[in-house]
Amino acid sequence: SWREASDLFDEKAGTINPAIYADPAIYELELERVFSRSWLLIAHETHIPKAGDYLSTYMGEDPVVAVRQKDGGVKVFLNQCRHRGMKICRTDGGNAKSFTCTYHGWAYDIGGNLVQVPVEQQSFACLDKKQWGARQARVDSYKGLIFATWNMDAPTLADYMGDAALYLDAVLDRSEAGTEAIGGITKWVIPCNWKLAAEQFASDMYHGLFSHGSIFTTAEIPTSPLGLGRQFRASEGGHGTGFFVRSVPELRITNAGECVPGYDPVADEQAAVARLGTRAQLFVQHMTIFPTFSFFAGFNTLRVWHPRGPNEIEVWAFTIVEKDASEAAKEQLRLSSTRSFSPAGTWEQDDGENWVEIQRVLRGYEARRTPFNAQMGMGQDYGVDPDLPGRFKQALSEGAARGFYAHWLKLMTEPVGEHAECGSVARAAE
Ligand code: FES
Repeated sequence: SWREASDLFDEKAGTINPAIYADPAIYELELERVFSRSWLLIAHETHIPKAGDYLSTYMGEDPVVAVRQKDGGVKVFLNQCRHRGMKICRTDGGNAKSFTCTYHGWAYDIGGNLVQVPVEQQSFACLDKKQWGARQARVDSYKGLIFATWNMDAPTLADYMGDAALYLDAVLDRSEAGTEAIGGITKWVIPCNWKLAAEQFASDMYHGLFSHGSIFTTAEIPTSPLGLGRQFRASEGGHGTGFFVRSVPELRITNAGECVPGYDPVADEQAAVARLGTRAQLFVQHMTIFPTFSFFAGFNTLRVWHPRGPNEIEVWAFTIVEKDASEAAKEQLRLSSTRSFSPAGTWEQDDGENWVEIQRVLRGYEARRTPFNAQMGMGQDYGVDPDLPGRFKQALSEGAARGFYAHWLKLMTEPVGEHAECGSVARAAE
């Protein structure tokens, strides 16, 4: 039950209404006001390198196809035939010259234009095929990552990310050659609300002490540095990260057991430092670009938390590595990310277990109306660093989580069309 916006999230009080994780009506509103207006990660450029290469994915619950064009650009269009709505493309990916709907045979070119209609001459008196192409999303990219939005009035992707972009650079910009995706896209289902995952990656260093305690113990990593990290809350847009200003080259081998022969993590790190300076020293533990793109540096896992109703997500994850890295380094990253963040990964299991149990508890009527506490770090001042953009708190804070929900609430309470510029959100007072 909610009448006022602050019934859902109250930043001043630091409280969250748990209904936001379970109410189907809130979820329906999210599809309209959050997912149709935000920039959403679609793929890495190297998933579709050649003309005609395509990938089927989702924007929120909407199926889309991303296709590399002959001019090198990328189109992203709704995977819905304009005749009766069958999928235009029914495969996960590949290379195509065109897409033919399997229902009545309408055919679309790789740009999503309707180009052929069976028995058009005999049976369609006035079909203007130009008007009936697939619905196009707006596309933009950042250092190898392709994003799309349905919001034609949205700011550019760079403006949307704002001061959060630099923290992405610590993963995307370590080599002049750029990055490439390796090992395919791993997909699995977690029965939990998408915000549990996205918020944790935006903000939560706190859980590392307990949820990942066994990993720290077995790998003999001290947990004490967790308290020495920092937390970044984006000035706008709900993005956030927990990070250290210290490189951690050993993380690439910690969870992979034996180091792959020939792999030298220290040399890797030195090359990145030579290129990026201070930025290479940023160890961005976990980060969310609002709403559903998250990553964990070091293991270099990138993922989208595709929503599937209020109680479920499909995780689509892939690993990236510097394009000019040695084969040993690529294998090291593949092993490291698989063993930490994948359906059977150690870190992933720790996280998913919590989210699943929270969602189970929320089946209860009383549980759905008992407020959650998000007060950690309230009253602490933000710090600034001349080398780094944005505002910081110490790592053990929920300031970025409050920024995440403040932006979410802003979108949820703005009717579509009333305020088209989804990235322009006043800095929430804290
Ligand atoms: Fe696609 Fe009829 S639904 S051709």
